[in-house]
Amino acid sequence: MRRNSVTLIKFLVAAVIFLAAGPFAMKFLFGNKRADEYVDAGLPMAPNEGGFHGKEHKRSSGELQKVDWHDHKQIAADEARVGPGEQGAAVILSPEEEAKKDDLYKVNGFNAFASDKISLQRSIKDIRHPDCKAKKYWNKLPNCSIVVPFHNEHWTTLLRLTYSVINRAPKELLHEVILVDDFSTKPFLKEELDNYMKEHFPGRVKVVHAERREGLIRTRILGAKHATGDVILFLDSHVEANVNYLPPLLDPIAEDYRTVVCPFIDVIDYENFNYRAQDEGARGAFDWEFFYKRLPLLPEDLLHPAEPFNSPVMAGGLFAISRKWFWELGGYDPGLDIWGGEQYELSFKIWQCGGKMVDAPCSRIGHIYRKFAPFPNPGVGDFVGRNYKRVAEVWMDEYAEYLYQHRPHYRSIQPGDLTEQKAVRTRLSCKPFKWFMEEIAFDLVKVYPPVEPKPFASGEFRNRDADMCIDTKYGHEGSNVHLDKCISDSNGGGEQNLELSWHKDIRPSKRTVCFDVSTSVAKAPVILYNCHGMGGNQRFKFNINTQQIYHPISNQCLDCDTGSHELFMNPCDEHKKTQQWIITNVNQTAIKIEWDLPK
Ligand SMILES: *[C@@H]1O[C@H](CO)[C@@H](O)[C@H](O)[C@H]1NC(C)=O
Ligand SMILES: *[C@@H]1O[C@H](CO)[C@@H](O)[C@H](O)[C@H]1NC(C)=O
Repeated sequence: MRRNSVTLIKFLVAAVIFLAAGPFAMKFLFGNKRADEYVDAGLPMAPNEGGFHGKEHKRSSGELQKVDWHDHKQIAADEARVGPGEQGAAVILSPEEEAKKDDLYKVNGFNAFASDKISLQRSIKDIRHPDCKAKKYWNKLPNCSIVVPFHNEHWTTLLRLTYSVINRAPKELLHEVILVDDFSTKPFLKEELDNYMKEHFPGRVKVVHAERREGLIRTRILGAKHATGDVILFLDSHVEANVNYLPPLLDPIAEDYRTVVCPFIDVIDYENFNYRAQDEGARGAFDWEFFYKRLPLLPEDLLHPAEPFNSPVMAGGLFAISRKWFWELGGYDPGLDIWGGEQYELSFKIWQCGGKMVDAPCSRIGHIYRKFAPFPNPGVGDFVGRNYKRVAEVWMDEYAEYLYQHRPHYRSIQPGDLTEQKAVRTRLSCKPFKWFMEEIAFDLVKVYPPVEPKPFASGEFRNRDADMCIDTKYGHEGSNVHLDKCISDSNGGGEQNLELSWHKDIRPSKRTVCFDVSTSVAKAPVILYNCHGMGGNQRFKFNINTQQIYHPISNQCLDCDTGSHELFMNPCDEHKKTQQWIITNVNQTAIKIEWDLPK
């Protein structure tokens, strides 16, 4: 009886935490990685067959009105497709095929052999919010040039991208697709690609070849210079566009040319090409080392799941911007080298100079996040740091200092000539960064404070019974945690400098893996999991009177086995010495306040 009610409460608490943590799912996956270059995003139908069903009829009146832009014929044809990878399913290779996949894997960082098994015009699941099916957009929308920079992209992923953006866009809205080759070395990306595009998409797909290795940012700029549509949609080179992806991106721009629109980015699995959502939206942000982060949606955004919502910064490679606004802003700062910081530069200037940025939930684009970067980038030295410094110096005013406090070596990096960038700021009478932080990214500092509060307790966590210390041994996500001889006693190796951090979790100092306990059984295991800062499974408290480390959500205490050196959670018993811990530095004031807080 008691057991059941405890289980129920746990379930409810877990559900609340799950909901609260939902928007952070992406942070778990990608939060602490710097994107690397060029990452970051059956029944064959003739391309564009069908097009926008009934558009002539709807547009004949000439009045401005909202219409249904879905291409129902294309949708029905997609739904009827069967075969490997169709409907966005995973491709399962046979054991013989598995043995052959390595060569292509190495040069692409994803399972390109699996890609080759899938139709270039495969269907993917329509995973948009159901409200998107009924959503209408202006009948007159600006048209669009899609710009796709690539370096050594695999043949079938590049072609599948091309088919998907063309097949799923109303013909009249897609002015052109521009594939920009950043000096690739794969031979098929030269004449063979040019010829394929001329033959299959005459007049619709242009291929531009850079004359030297430019890096991602300058390759995007090169593509933008060739674009002649009203809007430029930048994409990465291994993406697939979902149902009706284009009108939701263009509609907010039709209303204001200074609005920039990002699609939702779904995940195409690098191993088997399964198509899935990574989350149902979050607002883009950053921490003070310039790692890309996510903030939860606001309550009013949650009320309208199919409506665009404001986002402080873009994730990176996938966004639509009117050509006019892009060039008014000076495009990207051409002084940014290779990759890194460009998404912040553009986001800050869009907001500060009078535009806005939104994410459109009804536009979804799947992206392969590579397993590893398959080719070296052409950058020299800490070019990313130099890029960050340029962005900070031009746009961030006094907040640049916070970045430098986290990355002190930026202070001595020479950012190069900033005259032109500062001139953009003056010419467009752009607002100060303080305005951006207070009005747009107003909740950022709560989650990512510029000056990290001190931990509640830190140092070694020594068990009184075992006289040994908790040692995380530089373990990664999924590792178990054990006891080992204390380094302070034995000069041994290991990772024993831990903290009960201001996030109220336990983590090795300067790392972002946390103690995580997901069950409330006796001897429940403690594993390392990426820190989510949301409490729940990762919340711990220290009782300075009993020296117990308490896990409120499971109502258990940290315990250990002095023989096997295992660490686990058990029902609290203040008389058990295996549950008593001596922590080197404890802020008595803070820990008492925290202990008295409700669970
Ligand atoms: C796109 O719009 C421009 C005018 O803004 C026009 O010149 C061009 O023909 C349009 N493209 C298509 C494919 O309709
Ligand atoms: C201890 O915590 C209190 C309350 O949070 C804080 O004001 C104080 O600065 C902390 N002391 C140290 C040494 O960090």
